[in-house]
Amino acid sequence: MVIQGSELDLDKIPMIRPYFGDGGKIVTLGLVITKDCETGTPNVGVYRLQRQSKTTMTVHWLSVRGGARHLRKAAERGKKLEIAIALGVDPLIIMAAATPIPVDLSEWLFAGLYGGSGVQLAKCKTLDLEVPADSEIVLEGTISPGEMLPDGPFGDHMGYYGGVEDSPLIRFHCMTHRKDPIYLTTFSGRPPKEEAMMAIALNRIYTPILRQQVSEITDFFLPMEALSYKAAIISIDKAYPGQAKRAALAFWSALPQFTYTKFVIVVDKDINIRDPRQVVWAISSKVDPSRDVFILPETPFDSLDFASQKIGLGGRMGIDATTKIPPETEHEWGAPLESDPDVAAMVERRWAEYGLADLDLKEVDPNLFGYEMK
Ligand SMILES: Cc1cc2nc3c(=O)[nH]c(=O)nc-3n(C[C@H](O)[C@H](O)[C@H](O)COP(=O)(O)O)c2cc1C
Repeated sequence: MVIQGSELDLDKIPMIRPYFGDGGKIVTLGLVITKDCETGTPNVGVYRLQRQSKTTMTVHWLSVRGGARHLRKAAERGKKLEIAIALGVDPLIIMAAATPIPVDLSEWLFAGLYGGSGVQLAKCKTLDLEVPADSEIVLEGTISPGEMLPDGPFGDHMGYYGGVEDSPLIRFHCMTHRKDPIYLTTFSGRPPKEEAMMAIALNRIYTPILRQQVSEITDFFLPMEALSYKAAIISIDKAYPGQAKRAALAFWSALPQFTYTKFVIVVDKDINIRDPRQVVWAISSKVDPSRDVFILPETPFDSLDFASQKIGLGGRMGIDATTKIPPETEHEWGAPLESDPDVAAMVERRWAEYGLADLDLKEVDPNLFGYEMK
């Protein structure tokens, strides 16, 4: 079904207003599709959209996002930006769109690689853009650079209501939908919420992407309690002095998404980074704060984060919790404690004799982050 002109009515979409203090109704799980007006590369992201009228919405994309970059480019050339919103698509494509992949890689291609078969695309009715062919609802519109309206406040993943921000206004002129379309939605909030579960899977997806760019990284973990992006724990195969700092700096510039990671903790590869007890031990036993903590002031900062003094500008901290090697230290390191292998083997042999036969040690999960997928 194709709806255009005065028939167009965004209120036919069952948008939600998740918290009582929210500034309006929102679309939370739509694919926002734009194109680079110079290279033609599409960008697909998941960004919150606020209903402003029956035919308009504001889009809440952070300045590092692909859609924001496309709008800046269109504005430089004095052009309107074409924009399509696809609703009710395969969750696999939503995951691909929410994955912070390198900017020159098309999310369609990535979704195909990720899902094992190409994404079937269909041309929009009125725009030079493509959307998943199986979308339930598609909205087609344009943004005139500079045309903004206040967006927010909305409860977000930080666990607070965000501020009100002037955001680009999308004017829609066409809606297509299937008969009895299925609508997908979600809502944000302090973890654990659905988005935190998506982030667990995302962590798995971008570990290889990160390792490709920073080869010494052996593992990488974004704890849910740190909002799945504010703090990163990285383990490295340390081979030379200063390498932990190099890994932290390389991490911050590996993907635009990591711009907003405030804390990076680097540990040796023998630390299980999903076990907070091991990470806290590494920090406690291997860090001299005067040497191993470094702070970069006045860097780009998540505008939704109230912790910084200035909106969008704040510091970040790296902690080198790796074992120090010369010339990082002149202080000779002690030998690590290990049990005598002969004694350990004997204890295991005589376990039943000690009356402990019923104790299954495998049941004791040393991983406190019990939500982490195996
Ligand atoms: C449910 C959900 C809501 C999101 N909302 C926003 C948002 O409002 N603004 C934003 O900039 N990113 C939001 N994101 C994150 C982006 O979708 C994600 O970082 C994506 O990789 C951005 O794509 P891009 O780098 O191609 O712009 C959201 C992600 C999810 C899963």
